Amino acid sequence: MVKALVLYHSQEFGNTGLMAEAVAEGLRSAGCDVDLWNTDEGRYDVTEFPPYDCVAIGTPDYYSYVAGGLKTFMDDFYVHEVRKGLKGLSGKPYALFYSHGGGGRVKDTLGVFKRVGTLIGEPVGCYKKPDEATLRKLRALGEELAKATAG
Ligand SMILES: Cc1cc2nc3c(=O)[nH]c(=O)nc-3n(C[C@H](O)[C@H](O)[C@H](O)COP(=O)(O)O)c2cc1C
Repeated sequence: MVKALVLYHSQEFGNTGLMAEAVAEGLRSAGCDVDLWNTDEGRYDVTEFPPYDCVAIGTPDYYSYVAGGLKTFMDDFYVHEVRKGLKGLSGKPYALFYSHGGGGRVKDTLGVFKRVGTLIGEPVGCYKKPDEATLRKLRALGEELAKATAG
């Protein structure tokens, strides 16, 4: 069974959290075993990442950049892979989603995640609270990621 992680940051209104749940639903509906982690509740331990087959990463726009908890994930990722030699971190299919409050320029900074592996689909963006149409897109993104991972 494909193991998927939905790694996100949600702190202000829970908007990114609602998006993460929808991606997780899509992954589950395509047969994945899914874990979720909100970096607002603690630093994600990157040494637990290698067993996952794929990941969906979701961030709010914070000052036109990704949330600090997710930047820290990528910092830890580099240090563990390149300096500490931890195997199995990179080379995974990944999908992206982001929440914003009107600017949304975070979408131009999502390249920070490229070390993770191969981007699947298009990043799904959302202004404030996701509506039903956006939730459908996010479920579809989860399914697309699951299918790309299963091959
Ligand atoms: C510290 C902070 C900085 C923010 N900066 C931006 C920004 O530069 N551009 C933007 O469009 N929204 C910005 N926002 C709005 C959030 O991206 C938006 O409210 C988002 O939906 C919050 O997601 P959450 O409810 O999952 O925490 C900012 C919010 C916070 C708390």
